[in-house]
Amino acid sequence: MLVSNLPFTSPWLLAPMEGVTDPVYRGLVLGLHRPEDLGGAFTEFLRISQRPAKTEEVARHMGPSSSPIPVGLQLMGSDRERMADSARAAIRAGAVLVDINFGCPAKGALKGCAGSGMLQDPGSMESMVKAIADAVREESGDRVPVTGKIRAGYNDANSVADLARAVEQGGAQMLTVHCRTRAEGYCPEVDWTRLATAAQAVGIPVCANGGIESHADLDRARQETGCSFAMIGRAALGNPWIFSGEEVSTQRAAQFLVDYWDAIVATPRGHARAANGKVKQLLRLWSAGDLVPDAEARTVWLRETDAPAQIARLRSIAADTESHT
Ligand SMILES: Cc1cc2nc3c(=O)[nH]c(=O)nc-3n(C[C@H](O)[C@H](O)[C@H](O)COP(=O)(O)O)c2cc1C
Repeated sequence: MLVSNLPFTSPWLLAPMEGVTDPVYRGLVLGLHRPEDLGGAFTEFLRISQRPAKTEEVARHMGPSSSPIPVGLQLMGSDRERMADSARAAIRAGAVLVDINFGCPAKGALKGCAGSGMLQDPGSMESMVKAIADAVREESGDRVPVTGKIRAGYNDANSVADLARAVEQGGAQMLTVHCRTRAEGYCPEVDWTRLATAAQAVGIPVCANGGIESHADLDRARQETGCSFAMIGRAALGNPWIFSGEEVSTQRAAQFLVDYWDAIVATPRGHARAANGKVKQLLRLWSAGDLVPDAEARTVWLRETDAPAQIARLRSIAADTESHT
């Protein structure tokens, strides 16, 4: 444990990513790492709209937990009572941390005034954190921390300090700041001074997020911003070993994707076509092991619609210990 009652085992965290960081993917990535390399991960958001989540629903969303690396549950919604009831269900389902999403820029979230829609009203963010922190405390004592994840702002980053303070004053024990605003989407440029501004504005630990591209960047982000933690999103999809900095062979890189494919196919509704789509989602960003050496190679992987041909090629590279180590 690094800070207060946060469960993380190192300062490096895997970001929540909807459509990717489900139990299957997380299980594989957590299995690659020692707890001193990867300190924690998050579920993708669980959307709370018309009714609170039930305990079984939260348990399904979290999946089995066989790793010593903790996984926080993320909730997204705009109705305080339903969010608080869902947080109670999360505690009953065994959540070790409850995180609140104030960053999702998707139209659906904005329409319901959830996710980054809430960045326009720091007062209601504070009330939301407080409602959830109170519910979690009632249900678990001080055992389970509540955290919040924001973007640097809605249209601009002028209020990042106010947004950070709102999350702290609501009772969160860590704040993650994605340094892009909602308006900036996923633009390639990042301004880490916004992270430093947030870190200076609050007393709780801040986790730096946005544009961390390499293992070396993890430490650089902490040094340059004064944040206690650093979180990686998309670069970890391209290189799941980024947290340890291990350079892997082409064969091992292919084996990860084979294992991912097999794990998807083994799920109750899994099939090869779905596995091909999910693997391509990673190949779009893949940087590990020289498996995708250039744009041409990437196009070949991404154009493959014949699922058996795709997995056969990956299996053959994974099995080739001679030429791909
Ligand atoms: C496909 C995708 C899905 C995402 N889903 C979530 C989510 O469920 N909850 C969340 O807080 N952020 C989500 N994010 C944002 C990431 O957690 C992270 O803040 C963002 O990608 C910036 O980090 P990066 O520059 O390292 O990718 C998502 C991002 C991507 C690319």
